[in-house]
Amino acid sequence: MTFLRNTWYVAAWDHEVAHDALFQRTLLNESVLFFRDDAGKVQAISNRCPHRFAPLHMGKRVSNGVQCPYHGLQFDGAGTCTGNPHGDGRIPAAASVKSYPVIEKYSAIWIWMGDPAREDEASIPDFSCMDPEHAWVGKRYLHARANYVLETDNIMDLSHIQYLHPTTLGSDTVSDAITSVKQEGHTVYSNRQTVAEIMPDYLYTAMGFPHGLPVDRWVDVRWDAPANMLLDAGAVATGGARSDGRSFMLPHLFTPETDKTTHYWFAFCMPKALGEFGKQVVEEQVEGLSVPFTNEDLPMLEAQQRMMGDAEFWSLKPVLLPGDAGAIRARRVLDGLIANEQKEALQPAPAL
Ligand code: FES
Ligand SMILES: [Fe+2]
Repeated sequence: MTFLRNTWYVAAWDHEVAHDALFQRTLLNESVLFFRDDAGKVQAISNRCPHRFAPLHMGKRVSNGVQCPYHGLQFDGAGTCTGNPHGDGRIPAAASVKSYPVIEKYSAIWIWMGDPAREDEASIPDFSCMDPEHAWVGKRYLHARANYVLETDNIMDLSHIQYLHPTTLGSDTVSDAITSVKQEGHTVYSNRQTVAEIMPDYLYTAMGFPHGLPVDRWVDVRWDAPANMLLDAGAVATGGARSDGRSFMLPHLFTPETDKTTHYWFAFCMPKALGEFGKQVVEEQVEGLSVPFTNEDLPMLEAQQRMMGDAEFWSLKPVLLPGDAGAIRARRVLDGLIANEQKEALQPAPAL
């Protein structure tokens, strides 16, 4: 599988890379080592020592870097070998590892897996709802044994909540929803609105509405490549204006681990201005959402992947339903971006 390279992927929640610790994660089939330098800034380098290929994360954190657990070479965050305890201590010219641009932003650590010369912080999509300065952010991580684009399909086509989450997130009204899809640049929006919906009890409790109240409910999803989505989910008493209802921001962020496994981060955010109450709600809500995501979505995604085996998605000629429009649009945008990168890679280098 070919992955988009010149883009930002989420690599971890900010708290996953602790001070004075080494953290390893496989992203796009590459084992990457994360640590914080002495100033606390996150660094990311290849986890494979260039000497005998030992995994550096099994080594030791040293000042501004890591020491290989096997023969003791040291590397800094630029991937430069900074210490050789052997012989006269000379550092062989080839003793370096790849380093990756990383940015800590919106409660997450973002990594650029492509050409470092092209990294561009401004291209990280706006997830300011997760800015830890202004928001309480309930954060969770799941690991899925399924391809990451199946995860995009899952979020961009929320018609599945009627069938997969009948007692938590869905209802019989979901399939009657008004849906729309639009694209702005490379961003795709997949919006869904139900009218006079009787929601499952879980949602009335979670949203603080009287049980049984007919509501107009919306879930608007924004997608950016490679697979970063922001859900604006809310409801209002039927006929009311959205501004009179209640809504929540729910980021869903996916990064391929391998061709058929995915890192899945999701969050629930509330403004910090709400004080301790907001913090408590965030924790309760993200825990509540973990239940259907873990017990219902995850097994379905993994079962889909097992049924697909090694086959490429389009080669199986998937039947398309109206609710697929947003997911298909996102797939087309992603495929186009990857094709462009491949085309660029084939162009001959300019003559000197
Ligand atoms: S394998 Fe890393 S120093 Fe030998
Ligand atoms: Fe779901």
